Amino acid sequence: MRVLGLESSCDETAAAIVDADGRVLSDVVRSQIALHAAWGGVVPELAARDHLRAVVPVTREACRAAGLELADLDGLAVTVRPGLAGALLVGAQFAKALALATNKPLVGVDHLVGHLLAVFLARGGEAPRRPGFPFVALVASGGHTAIYRVAGPLERDVEELGGTRDDAAGEAFDKVAKALGLGYPGGPVIDRLASGGDASRFAVPTPMQRDASLELSFSGVKTWIARLVEREGAPSGQALADLCASFQRAVVGVLVDKTTRAARGLGVRDVVLAGGVASNRGLRAHAAERCASLGLELFVPPPASCTDNAAMIAYAGAARLVAGERDELSLSIEPRSRIPRATVKGRGRR
Ligand code: KG4
Ligand code: ZN
Repeated sequence: MRVLGLESSCDETAAAIVDADGRVLSDVVRSQIALHAAWGGVVPELAARDHLRAVVPVTREACRAAGLELADLDGLAVTVRPGLAGALLVGAQFAKALALATNKPLVGVDHLVGHLLAVFLARGGEAPRRPGFPFVALVASGGHTAIYRVAGPLERDVEELGGTRDDAAGEAFDKVAKALGLGYPGGPVIDRLASGGDASRFAVPTPMQRDASLELSFSGVKTWIARLVEREGAPSGQALADLCASFQRAVVGVLVDKTTRAARGLGVRDVVLAGGVASNRGLRAHAAERCASLGLELFVPPPASCTDNAAMIAYAGAARLVAGERDELSLSIEPRSRIPRATVKGRGRR
Protein backbone atom coordinates (compact mmCIF):
# COMPACT_ATOMS: atom_id res chain seq x y z
CA MET A 1 0.00 0.00 0.00
CA ARG A 2 1.37 3.39 -1.03
CA VAL A 3 -0.13 6.52 0.49
CA LEU A 4 0.42 10.17 -0.41
CA GLY A 5 0.44 12.40 2.68
CA LEU A 6 -0.17 16.15 2.66
CA GLU A 7 0.65 18.54 5.52
CA SER A 8 -0.16 22.26 5.69
CA SER A 9 -1.23 22.86 9.30
CA CYS A 10 1.32 25.56 10.11
CA ASP A 11 4.34 26.91 8.24
CA GLU A 12 5.51 23.91 6.23
CA THR A 13 3.95 22.77 2.96
CA ALA A 14 4.82 19.09 2.74
CA ALA A 15 4.00 16.04 0.63
CA ALA A 16 5.38 12.53 0.99
CA ILE A 17 4.74 8.99 -0.19
CA VAL A 18 5.05 6.20 2.37
CA ASP A 19 4.10 2.53 2.31
CA ALA A 20 2.17 0.69 5.02
CA ASP A 21 5.45 -0.60 6.52
CA GLY A 22 6.61 2.99 7.04
CA ARG A 23 9.15 3.02 4.22
CA VAL A 24 9.55 6.62 3.06
CA LEU A 25 9.52 6.64 -0.76
CA SER A 26 9.68 10.43 -0.96
CA ASP A 27 9.49 13.30 1.53
CA VAL A 28 9.30 16.91 0.37
CA VAL A 29 9.11 19.78 2.88
CA ARG A 30 8.92 23.39 1.80
CA SER A 31 9.44 25.63 4.80
CA GLN A 32 7.99 29.13 5.06
CA ILE A 33 10.49 30.18 7.72
CA ALA A 34 12.00 32.94 5.58
CA LEU A 35 8.52 34.35 4.90
CA HIS A 36 7.63 34.67 8.59
CA ALA A 37 11.07 35.46 10.05
CA ALA A 38 10.65 39.22 9.62
CA TRP A 39 7.50 39.06 11.82
CA GLY A 40 9.10 36.97 14.57
CA GLY A 41 6.45 34.26 14.27
CA VAL A 42 3.95 32.64 11.91
CA VAL A 43 1.45 35.05 10.30
CA PRO A 44 -1.66 32.91 9.57
CA GLU A 45 -2.83 34.75 6.44
CA LEU A 46 0.64 34.72 4.86
CA ALA A 47 0.93 31.01 5.69
CA ALA A 48 -2.35 30.13 3.94
CA ARG A 49 -1.45 32.07 0.81
CA ASP A 50 1.96 30.48 0.61
CA HIS A 51 0.51 26.96 1.02
CA LEU A 52 -1.70 27.75 -1.95
CA ARG A 53 1.35 28.60 -4.07
CA ALA A 54 3.33 25.56 -2.93
CA VAL A 55 0.90 22.67 -2.64
CA VAL A 56 0.84 21.63 -6.31
CA PRO A 57 4.62 21.83 -6.99
CA VAL A 58 5.41 20.10 -3.68
CA THR A 59 2.99 17.24 -4.49
CA ARG A 60 4.43 16.92 -8.01
CA GLU A 61 7.92 16.73 -6.53
CA ALA A 62 6.87 14.01 -4.05
CA CYS A 63 5.54 11.88 -6.94
CA ARG A 64 8.59 12.53 -9.11
CA ALA A 65 11.05 11.70 -6.31
CA ALA A 66 9.22 8.42 -5.59
CA GLY A 67 9.05 7.61 -9.33
CA LEU A 68 5.27 7.23 -9.05
CA GLU A 69 2.16 8.66 -10.73
CA LEU A 70 -1.00 9.57 -8.85
CA ALA A 71 -2.55 6.47 -10.46
CA ASP A 72 -0.02 4.25 -8.61
CA LEU A 73 -1.24 5.39 -5.18
CA ASP A 74 -3.56 3.39 -2.93
CA GLY A 75 -4.79 6.32 -0.85
CA LEU A 76 -4.49 9.95 0.19
CA ALA A 77 -3.96 11.27 3.72
CA VAL A 78 -4.15 14.89 4.80
CA THR A 79 -3.76 16.78 8.09
CA VAL A 80 -7.21 18.05 9.11
CA ARG A 81 -6.48 19.13 12.72
CA PRO A 82 -5.12 20.80 14.78
CA GLY A 83 -3.62 23.91 13.20
CA LEU A 84 -4.27 27.27 11.59
CA ALA A 85 -7.69 27.08 9.92
CA GLY A 86 -6.71 28.86 6.71
CA ALA A 87 -3.53 26.81 6.37
CA LEU A 88 -5.31 23.48 7.03
CA LEU A 89 -8.00 24.36 4.48
CA VAL A 90 -5.50 24.57 1.63
CA GLY A 91 -4.19 21.04 2.16
CA ALA A 92 -7.62 19.57 2.89
CA GLN A 93 -9.33 21.12 -0.16
CA PHE A 94 -6.47 20.06 -2.41
CA ALA A 95 -6.56 16.50 -1.03
CA LYS A 96 -10.30 16.31 -1.58
CA ALA A 97 -9.91 17.53 -5.17
CA LEU A 98 -7.22 14.88 -5.78
CA ALA A 99 -9.41 12.18 -4.25
CA LEU A 100 -12.32 13.19 -6.46
CA ALA A 101 -10.17 13.36 -9.60
CA THR A 102 -8.35 10.06 -9.01
CA ASN A 103 -11.11 8.15 -7.19
CA LYS A 104 -8.67 7.16 -4.41
CA PRO A 105 -9.70 6.68 -0.77
CA LEU A 106 -9.10 9.72 1.43
CA VAL A 107 -8.38 9.86 5.16
CA GLY A 108 -7.97 12.88 7.43
CA VAL A 109 -5.22 12.72 10.06
CA ASP A 110 -4.66 14.46 13.39
CA HIS A 111 -1.25 16.14 13.22
CA LEU A 112 -0.43 14.98 16.77
CA VAL A 113 -1.05 11.34 15.81
CA GLY A 114 1.37 11.93 12.94
CA HIS A 115 4.06 13.16 15.36
CA LEU A 116 3.40 10.19 17.67
CA LEU A 117 3.88 7.68 14.81
CA ALA A 118 6.90 9.40 13.19
CA VAL A 119 9.13 6.97 15.11
CA PHE A 120 7.95 4.15 12.81
CA LEU A 121 9.21 5.79 9.59
CA ALA A 122 12.03 3.98 7.80
CA ARG A 123 14.27 6.33 5.85
CA GLY A 124 17.06 5.48 3.42
CA GLY A 125 16.55 1.71 3.47
CA GLU A 126 17.34 1.41 7.18
CA ALA A 127 15.07 -0.62 9.44
CA PRO A 128 14.59 1.60 12.52
CA ARG A 129 14.36 0.26 16.07
CA ARG A 130 10.68 0.46 16.81
CA PRO A 131 8.80 0.73 20.10
CA GLY A 132 6.06 -1.72 21.00
CA PHE A 133 2.52 -0.72 22.00
CA PRO A 134 1.74 0.63 24.48
CA PHE A 135 4.47 3.25 24.71
CA VAL A 136 4.68 6.59 26.48
CA ALA A 137 5.47 9.55 24.24
CA LEU A 138 6.33 13.19 24.67
CA VAL A 139 5.19 15.48 21.86
CA ALA A 140 7.03 18.77 22.19
CA SER A 141 6.56 21.15 19.28
CA GLY A 142 5.91 24.80 18.57
CA GLY A 143 2.18 24.50 19.17
CA HIS A 144 1.78 21.51 21.51
CA THR A 145 3.46 19.93 24.47
CA ALA A 146 1.94 16.90 26.16
CA ILE A 147 2.67 13.37 27.32
CA TYR A 148 0.66 10.49 25.89
CA ARG A 149 0.03 6.79 26.33
CA VAL A 150 -0.14 5.27 22.86
CA ALA A 151 -1.77 1.83 22.68
CA GLY A 152 -1.98 1.53 18.88
CA PRO A 153 -1.68 3.50 15.64
CA LEU A 154 -5.18 5.01 15.57
CA GLU A 155 -6.42 8.24 17.12
CA ARG A 156 -8.67 6.34 19.53
CA ASP A 157 -5.59 4.49 20.84
CA VAL A 158 -4.03 7.75 22.05
CA GLU A 159 -4.58 9.06 25.59
CA GLU A 160 -3.22 12.38 26.83
CA LEU A 161 -1.78 12.00 30.34
CA GLY A 162 -0.84 15.62 30.98
CA GLY A 163 0.27 18.66 29.07
CA THR A 164 1.29 22.27 29.29
CA ARG A 165 -0.91 24.72 31.13
CA ASP A 166 0.36 27.61 29.03
CA ASP A 167 3.10 27.82 26.39
CA ALA A 168 4.34 24.86 24.37
CA ALA A 169 8.01 23.95 24.88
CA GLY A 170 8.93 25.02 21.32
CA GLU A 171 7.05 28.27 21.86
CA ALA A 172 9.22 28.89 24.95
CA PHE A 173 12.37 28.30 22.87
CA ASP A 174 11.05 30.68 20.20
CA LYS A 175 10.02 33.42 22.64
CA VAL A 176 13.25 33.24 24.62
CA ALA A 177 15.24 33.43 21.38
CA LYS A 178 13.22 36.48 20.39
CA ALA A 179 13.90 38.16 23.75
CA LEU A 180 17.61 37.44 23.28
CA GLY A 181 17.57 38.81 19.71
CA LEU A 182 18.38 35.43 18.17
CA GLY A 183 15.67 35.38 15.46
CA TYR A 184 12.98 32.86 14.56
CA PRO A 185 12.65 29.91 15.01
CA GLY A 186 14.66 29.89 18.20
CA GLY A 187 14.98 26.19 18.99
CA PRO A 188 17.88 25.30 16.68
CA VAL A 189 19.83 28.51 17.56
CA ILE A 190 19.49 27.98 21.32
CA ASP A 191 20.41 24.30 20.86
CA ARG A 192 23.62 25.31 19.08
CA LEU A 193 24.59 28.06 21.55
CA ALA A 194 23.75 25.87 24.57
CA SER A 195 26.30 23.26 23.50
CA GLY A 196 29.08 25.75 24.32
CA GLY A 197 27.52 27.04 27.55
CA ASP A 198 27.61 26.35 31.28
CA ALA A 199 24.09 25.29 32.36
CA SER A 200 24.80 25.95 36.04
CA ARG A 201 25.51 29.69 35.61
CA PHE A 202 21.90 30.96 35.71
CA ALA A 203 19.29 29.67 38.15
CA VAL A 204 16.46 29.46 35.60
CA PRO A 205 13.28 28.31 37.40
CA THR A 206 11.79 24.93 36.54
CA PRO A 207 8.07 25.25 37.15
CA MET A 208 5.95 22.21 38.01
CA GLN A 209 9.05 20.04 38.32
CA ARG A 210 8.34 18.97 41.89
CA ASP A 211 4.59 18.83 41.30
CA ALA A 212 3.45 15.19 41.31
CA SER A 213 1.15 15.64 38.29
CA LEU A 214 2.16 15.22 34.65
CA GLU A 215 1.42 18.86 33.95
CA LEU A 216 3.93 21.29 32.51
CA SER A 217 4.30 25.05 32.36
CA PHE A 218 6.77 27.18 30.42
CA SER A 219 5.48 30.74 30.48
CA GLY A 220 7.25 31.48 33.79
CA VAL A 221 10.64 30.53 32.37
CA LYS A 222 10.09 32.80 29.41
CA THR A 223 9.06 35.69 31.70
CA TRP A 224 12.06 35.10 33.98
CA ILE A 225 14.41 35.51 31.01
CA ALA A 226 12.52 38.52 29.64
CA ARG A 227 12.89 40.24 33.07
CA LEU A 228 16.60 39.42 33.17
CA VAL A 229 17.04 41.01 29.73
CA GLU A 230 15.02 44.07 30.81
CA ARG A 231 17.21 44.48 33.90
CA GLU A 232 20.63 43.72 32.50
CA GLY A 233 20.27 43.87 28.70
CA ALA A 234 20.68 40.87 26.37
CA PRO A 235 23.92 39.03 27.16
CA SER A 236 26.50 38.24 24.50
CA GLY A 237 29.46 35.94 24.08
CA GLN A 238 29.96 33.36 26.81
CA ALA A 239 27.18 34.78 29.01
CA LEU A 240 24.71 34.28 26.14
CA ALA A 241 25.83 30.68 25.67
CA ASP A 242 25.55 30.10 29.44
CA LEU A 243 22.04 31.57 29.55
CA CYS A 244 20.94 29.40 26.60
CA ALA A 245 22.42 26.33 28.29
CA SER A 246 20.73 27.17 31.62
CA PHE A 247 17.35 27.77 29.94
CA GLN A 248 17.62 24.60 27.86
CA ARG A 249 18.54 22.51 30.87
CA ALA A 250 15.54 23.80 32.82
CA VAL A 251 13.10 22.95 30.00
CA VAL A 252 14.68 19.64 29.09
CA GLY A 253 14.94 18.61 32.75
CA VAL A 254 11.24 18.93 33.42
CA LEU A 255 10.26 17.31 30.11
CA VAL A 256 12.42 14.26 30.82
CA ASP A 257 11.36 14.03 34.49
CA LYS A 258 7.67 14.01 33.67
CA THR A 259 7.88 11.72 30.65
CA THR A 260 9.90 9.06 32.46
CA ARG A 261 7.68 9.43 35.54
CA ALA A 262 4.66 8.70 33.32
CA ALA A 263 6.29 5.57 31.89
CA ARG A 264 7.28 4.27 35.31
CA GLY A 265 3.87 5.05 36.78
CA LEU A 266 2.13 3.04 34.05
CA GLY A 267 4.70 0.25 34.01
CA VAL A 268 5.46 0.95 30.35
CA ARG A 269 9.00 0.24 29.13
CA ASP A 270 9.17 2.03 25.77
CA VAL A 271 9.50 5.83 25.67
CA VAL A 272 9.27 7.94 22.50
CA LEU A 273 10.22 11.57 21.88
CA ALA A 274 8.40 13.43 19.11
CA GLY A 275 7.82 16.91 17.67
CA GLY A 276 10.27 19.62 16.63
CA VAL A 277 11.78 20.02 20.11
CA ALA A 278 12.71 16.30 20.05
CA SER A 279 15.49 17.25 17.63
CA ASN A 280 17.10 19.18 20.51
CA ARG A 281 20.45 17.58 21.30
CA GLY A 282 20.25 18.41 25.00
CA LEU A 283 16.84 16.73 25.27
CA ARG A 284 18.02 13.66 23.37
CA ALA A 285 21.13 13.27 25.50
CA HIS A 286 19.39 13.84 28.83
CA ALA A 287 16.52 11.48 27.94
CA ALA A 288 18.99 8.78 26.84
CA GLU A 289 20.89 9.02 30.12
CA ARG A 290 17.77 8.99 32.30
CA CYS A 291 16.09 6.13 30.41
CA ALA A 292 19.26 4.04 30.61
CA SER A 293 19.48 4.56 34.36
CA LEU A 294 15.80 3.65 34.87
CA GLY A 295 15.81 0.60 32.57
CA LEU A 296 13.50 2.28 30.03
CA GLU A 297 13.97 1.92 26.25
CA LEU A 298 14.19 5.26 24.45
CA PHE A 299 13.19 5.74 20.81
CA VAL A 300 13.88 9.07 19.10
CA PRO A 301 13.22 9.62 15.39
CA PRO A 302 15.87 11.38 13.28
CA PRO A 303 15.42 15.19 13.15
CA ALA A 304 13.72 15.06 9.72
CA SER A 305 10.96 12.94 11.27
CA CYS A 306 10.68 15.15 14.39
CA THR A 307 9.97 18.47 12.70
CA ASP A 308 6.82 18.89 10.62
CA ASN A 309 6.70 16.59 7.60
CA ALA A 310 4.13 14.76 5.50
CA ALA A 311 5.70 11.29 5.80
CA MET A 312 4.31 10.99 9.33
CA ILE A 313 0.87 12.04 8.03
CA ALA A 314 1.03 9.49 5.20
CA TYR A 315 1.98 6.76 7.70
CA ALA A 316 -0.82 7.66 10.12
CA GLY A 317 -3.18 7.69 7.12
CA ALA A 318 -1.94 4.27 5.98
CA ALA A 319 -2.72 2.91 9.46
CA ARG A 320 -6.28 4.21 9.15
CA LEU A 321 -6.69 2.72 5.67
CA VAL A 322 -5.30 -0.65 6.84
CA ALA A 323 -7.88 -0.56 9.67
CA GLY A 324 -10.59 -0.16 7.02
CA GLU A 325 -11.32 3.48 7.81
CA ARG A 326 -11.92 6.17 5.20
CA ASP A 327 -13.47 9.63 5.08
CA GLU A 328 -16.04 11.20 2.80
CA LEU A 329 -15.42 14.25 0.64
CA SER A 330 -17.42 16.19 3.24
CA LEU A 331 -14.35 15.88 5.51
CA SER A 332 -13.64 19.21 7.18
CA ILE A 333 -10.81 20.84 9.10
CA GLU A 334 -10.77 21.74 12.80
CA PRO A 335 -8.36 24.09 14.59
CA ARG A 336 -8.24 21.77 17.63
CA SER A 337 -7.28 18.15 18.15
CA ARG A 338 -10.02 15.70 19.16
CA ILE A 339 -7.70 13.82 21.52
CA PRO A 340 -9.23 14.55 24.94
CA ARG A 341 -7.08 16.93 26.97
CA ALA A 342 -5.94 15.94 30.45
CA THR A 343 -4.72 19.49 31.03
CA VAL A 344 -6.82 22.45 30.00
CA LYS A 345 -4.75 25.41 28.83
CA GLY A 346 -4.81 28.26 31.30
CA ARG A 347 -6.63 26.19 33.92
CA GLY A 348 -4.68 23.02 34.65
CA ARG A 349 -5.97 19.57 35.39
CA ARG A 350 -9.53 18.60 34.50
O1 KG4 B 1 6.94 20.00 15.22
P1 KG4 B 1 7.35 21.31 14.65
O2 KG4 B 1 8.22 21.33 13.43
O3 KG4 B 1 6.10 22.20 14.31
C1 KG4 B 1 4.95 22.25 15.11
O4 KG4 B 1 4.06 21.36 14.96
O5 KG4 B 1 4.90 23.19 15.94
O6 KG4 B 1 8.05 22.13 15.84
C2 KG4 B 1 8.59 23.40 15.64
C3 KG4 B 1 9.17 23.85 16.96
C4 KG4 B 1 9.66 25.29 16.96
O7 KG4 B 1 9.19 25.92 18.14
C5 KG4 B 1 11.18 25.16 17.00
O8 KG4 B 1 11.82 26.23 17.65
C6 KG4 B 1 11.35 23.87 17.76
O9 KG4 B 1 10.31 23.03 17.29
N1 KG4 B 1 12.64 23.23 17.48
C7 KG4 B 1 13.60 23.05 18.41
C8 KG4 B 1 14.72 22.49 17.75
N2 KG4 B 1 14.40 22.34 16.44
C9 KG4 B 1 13.12 22.79 16.29
N3 KG4 B 1 13.60 23.32 19.73
C10 KG4 B 1 14.72 23.04 20.43
N4 KG4 B 1 15.83 22.52 19.86
C11 KG4 B 1 15.88 22.23 18.53
N5 KG4 B 1 16.98 21.70 18.00
ZN1 ZN C 1 4.10 19.62 14.35
